[in-house]
Amino acid sequence: MSAPELSAGHSGLMDSVYRHQRHIYDLTRKYYLLGRDRMISELAPPMSGTVLELGCGTGRNLILAARRFPNAHFYGLDISAEMLVTARASIARAGLSDRISLAQADATSFDAAALFGRGGFDRVFVSYALSMIPGWERSVSAALTASAGSVHIVDFGQQEGLPGWFRKLLRGWLARFHVTPRETMAAEIAAQARAAGKSCRFTSLYRGYAWLVVVGGPKPI
Ligand SMILES: C[S@@+](CC[C@H](N)C(=O)[O-])C[C@H]1O[C@@H](n2cnc3c(N)ncnc32)[C@H](O)[C@@H]1O
Repeated sequence: MSAPELSAGHSGLMDSVYRHQRHIYDLTRKYYLLGRDRMISELAPPMSGTVLELGCGTGRNLILAARRFPNAHFYGLDISAEMLVTARASIARAGLSDRISLAQADATSFDAAALFGRGGFDRVFVSYALSMIPGWERSVSAALTASAGSVHIVDFGQQEGLPGWFRKLLRGWLARFHVTPRETMAAEIAAQARAAGKSCRFTSLYRGYAWLVVVGGPKPI
Protein backbone atom coordinates (compact mmCIF):
# COMPACT_ATOMS: atom_id res chain seq x y z
CA MET A 1 0.00 0.00 0.00
CA SER A 2 1.42 3.41 -0.89
CA ALA A 3 1.73 5.97 1.90
CA PRO A 4 -1.02 8.61 2.00
CA GLU A 5 0.22 11.93 0.63
CA LEU A 6 0.62 15.09 2.68
CA SER A 7 -1.56 18.01 1.70
CA ALA A 8 1.22 20.30 0.42
CA GLY A 9 -0.97 23.38 0.91
CA HIS A 10 -1.74 22.72 4.57
CA SER A 11 1.72 21.47 5.37
CA GLY A 12 3.18 24.66 3.83
CA LEU A 13 0.71 26.80 5.78
CA MET A 14 1.65 25.13 9.07
CA ASP A 15 5.35 25.55 8.27
CA SER A 16 4.80 29.24 7.62
CA VAL A 17 2.87 29.63 10.91
CA TYR A 18 5.55 27.84 12.93
CA ARG A 19 8.84 28.63 11.10
CA HIS A 20 9.65 31.34 13.66
CA GLN A 21 7.00 30.63 16.31
CA ARG A 22 8.48 27.21 17.08
CA HIS A 23 11.40 28.91 18.85
CA ILE A 24 9.11 30.53 21.43
CA TYR A 25 6.25 28.05 21.23
CA ASP A 26 6.71 26.11 24.47
CA LEU A 27 7.37 29.23 26.50
CA THR A 28 4.34 31.17 25.25
CA ARG A 29 1.78 28.36 24.86
CA LYS A 30 2.06 27.16 28.43
CA TYR A 31 -0.07 30.17 29.41
CA TYR A 32 -2.96 29.43 27.11
CA LEU A 33 -3.02 25.80 25.94
CA LEU A 34 -4.72 24.78 29.18
CA GLY A 35 -5.66 21.25 30.19
CA ARG A 36 -2.75 19.53 28.45
CA ASP A 37 -1.09 18.35 31.67
CA ARG A 38 -4.33 16.96 33.02
CA MET A 39 -4.84 15.04 29.79
CA ILE A 40 -1.30 13.64 29.99
CA SER A 41 -1.80 12.57 33.62
CA GLU A 42 -4.87 10.57 32.59
CA LEU A 43 -3.14 8.60 29.82
CA ALA A 44 -1.89 5.89 32.18
CA PRO A 45 -0.72 3.44 29.48
CA PRO A 46 -0.25 -0.21 30.47
CA MET A 47 3.20 -1.59 31.27
CA SER A 48 5.35 -1.45 28.10
CA GLY A 49 2.40 0.23 26.38
CA THR A 50 2.39 2.43 23.29
CA VAL A 51 1.11 5.98 22.97
CA LEU A 52 0.60 8.03 19.78
CA GLU A 53 0.11 11.80 19.54
CA LEU A 54 -1.48 13.30 16.42
CA GLY A 55 -0.21 16.83 15.73
CA CYS A 56 2.65 16.59 18.23
CA GLY A 57 4.20 19.99 17.44
CA THR A 58 7.38 20.66 19.42
CA GLY A 59 7.16 17.32 21.23
CA ARG A 60 6.43 19.05 24.53
CA ASN A 61 3.59 16.66 25.45
CA LEU A 62 5.49 13.55 24.34
CA ILE A 63 8.47 14.48 26.52
CA LEU A 64 6.31 15.12 29.59
CA ALA A 65 4.35 11.93 29.02
CA ALA A 66 7.51 9.87 28.46
CA ARG A 67 8.92 11.14 31.76
CA ARG A 68 5.68 10.45 33.58
CA PHE A 69 5.23 6.94 32.15
CA PRO A 70 8.81 5.62 31.91
CA ASN A 71 7.81 2.12 30.78
CA ALA A 72 5.87 3.16 27.70
CA HIS A 73 7.01 3.91 24.14
CA PHE A 74 5.80 7.07 22.45
CA TYR A 75 5.09 8.03 18.84
CA GLY A 76 4.27 11.41 17.38
CA LEU A 77 3.28 12.70 13.97
CA ASP A 78 2.90 16.21 12.63
CA ILE A 79 2.34 17.74 9.21
CA SER A 80 4.88 20.52 9.78
CA ALA A 81 8.50 19.69 9.02
CA GLU A 82 9.48 22.86 10.92
CA MET A 83 7.77 21.71 14.12
CA LEU A 84 9.40 18.30 13.78
CA VAL A 85 12.88 19.88 13.65
CA THR A 86 12.21 21.43 17.06
CA ALA A 87 10.59 18.23 18.37
CA ARG A 88 13.59 16.10 17.35
CA ALA A 89 16.04 18.50 18.97
CA SER A 90 14.02 18.75 22.22
CA ILE A 91 13.59 14.99 22.44
CA ALA A 92 17.32 14.43 21.88
CA ARG A 93 18.14 17.08 24.52
CA ALA A 94 15.83 15.27 26.95
CA GLY A 95 17.68 12.02 26.23
CA LEU A 96 14.46 10.37 25.03
CA SER A 97 15.22 9.64 21.36
CA ASP A 98 15.14 5.90 22.03
CA ARG A 99 11.60 6.10 23.51
CA ILE A 100 9.94 8.68 21.27
CA SER A 101 9.63 8.13 17.51
CA LEU A 102 8.50 10.88 15.15
CA ALA A 103 7.20 11.07 11.60
CA GLN A 104 5.82 13.68 9.22
CA ALA A 105 2.24 12.86 8.27
CA ASP A 106 -1.26 14.24 7.96
CA ALA A 107 -3.42 13.39 10.98
CA THR A 108 -6.49 13.04 8.75
CA SER A 109 -4.92 10.28 6.67
CA PHE A 110 -1.87 8.31 7.74
CA ASP A 111 -0.60 4.79 7.61
CA ALA A 112 0.74 4.09 11.12
CA ALA A 113 2.22 0.75 10.09
CA ALA A 114 4.26 2.38 7.32
CA LEU A 115 5.33 5.26 9.56
CA PHE A 116 6.08 3.43 12.78
CA GLY A 117 5.99 -0.27 12.00
CA ARG A 118 2.82 -0.76 14.03
CA GLY A 119 -0.83 -0.18 13.30
CA GLY A 120 -2.30 -0.01 16.81
CA PHE A 121 -1.53 1.87 20.01
CA ASP A 122 -2.72 1.54 23.61
CA ARG A 123 -3.43 5.26 23.80
CA VAL A 124 -3.87 7.96 21.17
CA PHE A 125 -4.08 11.63 22.07
CA VAL A 126 -4.67 14.90 20.23
CA SER A 127 -3.82 18.18 21.94
CA TYR A 128 -4.85 21.53 20.48
CA ALA A 129 -4.51 20.19 16.95
CA LEU A 130 -8.14 19.57 15.88
CA SER A 131 -8.66 23.34 15.93
CA MET A 132 -5.98 23.65 13.20
CA ILE A 133 -6.82 20.64 11.05
CA PRO A 134 -9.14 21.05 8.04
CA GLY A 135 -11.35 17.95 7.99
CA TRP A 136 -10.61 17.43 11.70
CA GLU A 137 -13.47 14.92 11.95
CA ARG A 138 -11.32 12.50 9.94
CA SER A 139 -8.56 12.84 12.54
CA VAL A 140 -11.04 11.81 15.21
CA SER A 141 -11.90 8.65 13.26
CA ALA A 142 -8.21 8.00 12.56
CA ALA A 143 -7.49 8.30 16.30
CA LEU A 144 -10.31 5.90 17.15
CA THR A 145 -9.11 3.42 14.53
CA ALA A 146 -5.48 3.60 15.70
CA SER A 147 -6.28 3.10 19.37
CA ALA A 148 -6.80 -0.29 20.95
CA GLY A 149 -7.51 1.51 24.24
CA SER A 150 -8.56 5.06 25.01
CA VAL A 151 -8.39 8.25 22.94
CA HIS A 152 -7.77 11.55 24.74
CA ILE A 153 -8.56 14.88 23.11
CA VAL A 154 -8.07 18.37 24.53
CA ASP A 155 -8.70 21.59 22.63
CA PHE A 156 -10.33 24.99 22.84
CA GLY A 157 -13.94 24.80 23.99
CA GLN A 158 -16.64 27.37 23.25
CA GLN A 159 -15.83 29.51 26.34
CA GLU A 160 -19.47 29.00 27.30
CA GLY A 161 -19.04 30.21 30.89
CA LEU A 162 -16.81 33.18 30.07
CA PRO A 163 -17.79 36.75 29.18
CA GLY A 164 -18.61 37.52 25.54
CA TRP A 165 -15.82 40.10 25.26
CA PHE A 166 -13.23 37.50 26.32
CA ARG A 167 -14.53 35.00 23.80
CA LYS A 168 -14.38 37.61 21.02
CA LEU A 169 -10.86 38.67 21.94
CA LEU A 170 -9.65 35.07 22.13
CA ARG A 171 -11.23 34.15 18.77
CA GLY A 172 -9.60 37.16 17.10
CA TRP A 173 -6.21 36.22 18.52
CA LEU A 174 -6.53 32.56 17.56
CA ALA A 175 -7.62 33.37 13.99
CA ARG A 176 -4.23 35.02 13.44
CA PHE A 177 -2.70 31.55 13.87
CA HIS A 178 -5.33 29.75 11.74
CA VAL A 179 -6.90 28.25 14.86
CA THR A 180 -10.69 27.70 14.92
CA PRO A 181 -12.28 26.25 18.06
CA ARG A 182 -14.60 23.49 16.82
CA GLU A 183 -18.15 24.11 17.99
CA THR A 184 -19.25 20.56 17.22
CA MET A 185 -16.10 18.87 18.57
CA ALA A 186 -17.69 17.23 21.63
CA ALA A 187 -20.83 16.16 19.74
CA GLU A 188 -18.81 14.74 16.82
CA ILE A 189 -16.49 12.74 19.10
CA ALA A 190 -19.48 11.46 21.10
CA ALA A 191 -21.23 10.37 17.88
CA GLN A 192 -18.12 8.58 16.59
CA ALA A 193 -17.62 6.91 20.00
CA ARG A 194 -21.24 5.75 20.01
CA ALA A 195 -20.89 4.33 16.51
CA ALA A 196 -17.78 2.45 17.63
CA GLY A 197 -19.60 1.17 20.74
CA LYS A 198 -17.24 3.04 23.08
CA SER A 199 -17.87 5.19 26.12
CA CYS A 200 -17.22 8.93 25.98
CA ARG A 201 -16.47 11.31 28.86
CA PHE A 202 -16.66 15.06 28.34
CA THR A 203 -15.21 17.64 30.74
CA SER A 204 -15.46 21.39 30.30
CA LEU A 205 -12.39 23.06 31.83
CA TYR A 206 -12.04 26.62 33.10
CA ARG A 207 -15.62 27.62 32.27
CA GLY A 208 -15.43 26.21 28.77
CA TYR A 209 -12.04 27.68 27.89
CA ALA A 210 -10.97 24.14 27.02
CA TRP A 211 -12.75 20.86 26.44
CA LEU A 212 -11.34 17.48 27.36
CA VAL A 213 -12.89 14.37 25.87
CA VAL A 214 -11.88 10.78 26.63
CA VAL A 215 -13.19 7.94 24.48
CA GLY A 216 -13.05 4.39 25.71
CA GLY A 217 -11.56 5.13 29.10
CA PRO A 218 -12.88 3.78 32.39
CA LYS A 219 -16.39 5.03 33.18
CA PRO A 220 -16.48 7.80 35.84
CA ILE A 221 -17.61 6.53 39.26
C1 LIG B 1 -1.34 24.27 18.31
S1 LIG B 1 -0.16 23.06 17.80
C2 LIG B 1 -0.29 21.85 19.12
C3 LIG B 1 0.99 21.09 19.30
C4 LIG B 1 0.98 20.10 20.47
N1 LIG B 1 0.01 19.06 20.27
C5 LIG B 1 0.74 20.81 21.78
O1 LIG B 1 -0.23 20.51 22.47
O2 LIG B 1 1.59 21.66 22.14
C6 LIG B 1 -0.99 22.24 16.46
C7 LIG B 1 -0.09 21.28 15.72
O3 LIG B 1 -0.89 20.54 14.81
C8 LIG B 1 -0.16 20.38 13.62
N2 LIG B 1 -1.09 20.09 12.53
C9 LIG B 1 -1.96 20.93 11.92
N3 LIG B 1 -2.65 20.28 10.97
C10 LIG B 1 -2.18 19.00 10.95
C11 LIG B 1 -2.50 17.85 10.19
N4 LIG B 1 -3.44 17.87 9.23
N5 LIG B 1 -1.84 16.71 10.45
C12 LIG B 1 -0.89 16.65 11.41
N6 LIG B 1 -0.54 17.72 12.17
C13 LIG B 1 -1.19 18.88 11.95
C14 LIG B 1 0.59 21.69 13.46
O4 LIG B 1 1.67 21.58 12.57
C15 LIG B 1 1.00 21.97 14.90
O5 LIG B 1 2.24 21.40 15.19
